[in-house]
Amino acid sequence: MKNLLFRPFHASLLFLFIAALAGLSATAQPKPVPNPQLASKEVNARVEALLKQMTLEEKIGQLAAFSPGFATGPGATNQHYDELAAKGGSGIMLNLNNASAINHYQHIAMEKSRLKIPILFGLDVIHGHRTTFPVPLALAASFDPATAELVARFGAVEARADGIAQVFSPMVDISRDPRWGRIIESAGEDPYLGSAMARAWIKGYQQDDLSKPDSVLACVKHYAAYGAAIAGRDYNATDMSEITLRQVYLEPYRAAVEAGAGSVMSSFNSINGVPASANPFTLTQVLRGEWGFAGPVVSDWDAVGELLAHSIGPDGATVARKALEAGMDVDMASNLYPTVIAPQVRSGKIPEAVVDEAVRRVLRVKFALGLFEHPYTVEGPAYDATPERRAAARKVAAETIVLLKNDPVEGVGALLPLTAKAKKVALIGPLADAPAEMLGAWAVTGDPKFAVTLRTALAERLGDRLLYAEGCGLLSGEEGNLLKRVSFIGRDAADAHLPVPDDAKTIAEAVETAKQTDVAILALGESATWMEGEAGSRTTLGFTGAQEQLLEAVVATGKPVVLVILAARPLEIKWAAAHVPAIVEAWSPGVEAGHAVTDILFGDVNPSAKLPVSLPRAVGQEPLYYAQLPTGRPASGDLSHMPRNGDERFMSRYMDEDNTALFPFGWGLSYTRFSYSQPAISRAEVPVREVLASRRPVAAVGVDVKNTGSVAGTEVVQLYIRNTAASVEQPVRELKGFARVALAPGETKHVDFPLGFDELNFYNVEVKRTVEPTTYKIWVGGSSLATAETALKIVE
Ligand code: BGC
Repeated sequence: MKNLLFRPFHASLLFLFIAALAGLSATAQPKPVPNPQLASKEVNARVEALLKQMTLEEKIGQLAAFSPGFATGPGATNQHYDELAAKGGSGIMLNLNNASAINHYQHIAMEKSRLKIPILFGLDVIHGHRTTFPVPLALAASFDPATAELVARFGAVEARADGIAQVFSPMVDISRDPRWGRIIESAGEDPYLGSAMARAWIKGYQQDDLSKPDSVLACVKHYAAYGAAIAGRDYNATDMSEITLRQVYLEPYRAAVEAGAGSVMSSFNSINGVPASANPFTLTQVLRGEWGFAGPVVSDWDAVGELLAHSIGPDGATVARKALEAGMDVDMASNLYPTVIAPQVRSGKIPEAVVDEAVRRVLRVKFALGLFEHPYTVEGPAYDATPERRAAARKVAAETIVLLKNDPVEGVGALLPLTAKAKKVALIGPLADAPAEMLGAWAVTGDPKFAVTLRTALAERLGDRLLYAEGCGLLSGEEGNLLKRVSFIGRDAADAHLPVPDDAKTIAEAVETAKQTDVAILALGESATWMEGEAGSRTTLGFTGAQEQLLEAVVATGKPVVLVILAARPLEIKWAAAHVPAIVEAWSPGVEAGHAVTDILFGDVNPSAKLPVSLPRAVGQEPLYYAQLPTGRPASGDLSHMPRNGDERFMSRYMDEDNTALFPFGWGLSYTRFSYSQPAISRAEVPVREVLASRRPVAAVGVDVKNTGSVAGTEVVQLYIRNTAASVEQPVRELKGFARVALAPGETKHVDFPLGFDELNFYNVEVKRTVEPTTYKIWVGGSSLATAETALKIVE
């Protein structure tokens, strides 16, 4: 495959030009659909009028973002922020989270700066603002874009009330390696699901109208392919073919931009040797040239400054010039643009037109947001976690919790949902009563004092029928000491839940507690505040500290155990899967964590979520994802349904472990059961020219889904395809449709999935999206293991 580093930029532009001349056949890229507000004549006339009045320094001021609040990375420069605001030197300010601080700087900008250009205030509003919802990975588990839209709406309303008009969200990085701590911010491993969620986030934040007083400017991040950091080590390089980049990693960004996303954040990593923050291919050719994006690209924290460490130039002036010329508009935090761009414009090294273009993009969003007319924020009362907000957080969280396993226990039957038979219940584990941990990573303005833990929620239901034991520390003493040396935001909250463990004693106490009860609920996982999110990479994926020993000791009592996993990344839970009858994946559920988990445990809410990411058997399988490319020697259990291991040695497999996931993508149980009819294709054969002619569906796959159990439930019906004869090999399965279907006991509903160019296309060797004559195998079912099968033939 061509290396992006050597791919001449102009050659690709030429291709686009030729494609445009050729009238854009259906195989060519669809015409870009820019956000109409950013393309509007009125907005652009105002931008041009203002631009004409600006000095070079004022222009460059719009291309700088500074943080008068906390720092979200290293390398922060100390600035005189009042002075900066007064001279128009910080077009964006970030990390302020209340209206009074924001108004302070806005008043200076509007009253003291020469041109009175309002400042755009940005913040990491990742899974709600004041009201903390489950982390984005959990939201993806709902397979319900409407939940992402709702969470974005809550975030937007609350953020705007605090004066924040730009949110650094959604994070749409495809994440296939849970060693990477930022997987929690993503929608997981799949581009189809990721794109659906991305569109919903944008809709929720921007409401298709940035000028609404409760819309915020979304900032899609981290562009691009940040989630593919080699070996899961944060900030590491990514390296992949252009086909994979486009077909897998760029898809959710494209979806977000097509949905009207108003700003984009570049990523820290390099892509095939070119840093993403100085990458003309991704920032200009693809984003602007192909997708028609008209807003600003903001760098990630200090990412322009870090181009020096990336070694793409001898000095700050060179790397900043490369970034700006590549299409990197706003320098966040490094203070390089404000110091090195102007002299290069004056010496003729950088055309002023390049600066102007970047400034236009920033001003466009400020005009579109209505900031010139409404720069200030009315300072309202302090945040209150009202019953309405709590109810929304609880409902959403319950929709994200995945029931992984619910095997019958001798003499008891299925453990879940818990019934009155469980007279005495033990709640055990370091995450049973840790409020800050419930909010999850990147809950910048979430307040642990509002968080409901599992202990609180269970005590409400069970009173003195509940016994509690912490069991062990979340981290071992050694892990704790190591992490204490590292400083980062959220640390204070985390410290409060970092007891110095005396694990042998506390495990013995927990065992005694379990023995007095009918069932033990174990709340285990990893520390969201310490170990997840940015710079939270791990080389192991087990429970931290002594939690595994605790689990084994409690299971050894013979009491039935329900394991509630509170970790927003896939953990290695092989022992638990073999020995614990009931397992619930609860991620980081947010402010209503305890209530939402209890709703599931007691069956008030029937679980409906599905895994947006594969859970591995062993960390050595990572990156593990269901949509693997085929090999010539498929081994046991590959989704290709090739013969199971014939104990042939020379197969693509491990000597010591299966290839398959422990729990696969799309997996999730319910308290009822669903059956599927044989899927039916509306047409067995379709001529290829018909598929290429438009983006309309050419066929549909229909299936009947029945609730065969005795309680109401919702099934996420999933459709997977496999292209069996493509000119470039295609994944063994790809998700191409899903639908949440609510069914009363005994009820049957029919679901139709459309298939057309959008679902069937792939990138050929010329890196063009196309469809060729082939046969698509098609499966419909409740996970990526679906077996009910049909096919669609594409003929000459
Ligand atoms: C993170 C971004 C975040 C930015 C601003 C960086 O460290 O990578 O996701 O938006 O800080 O806070």
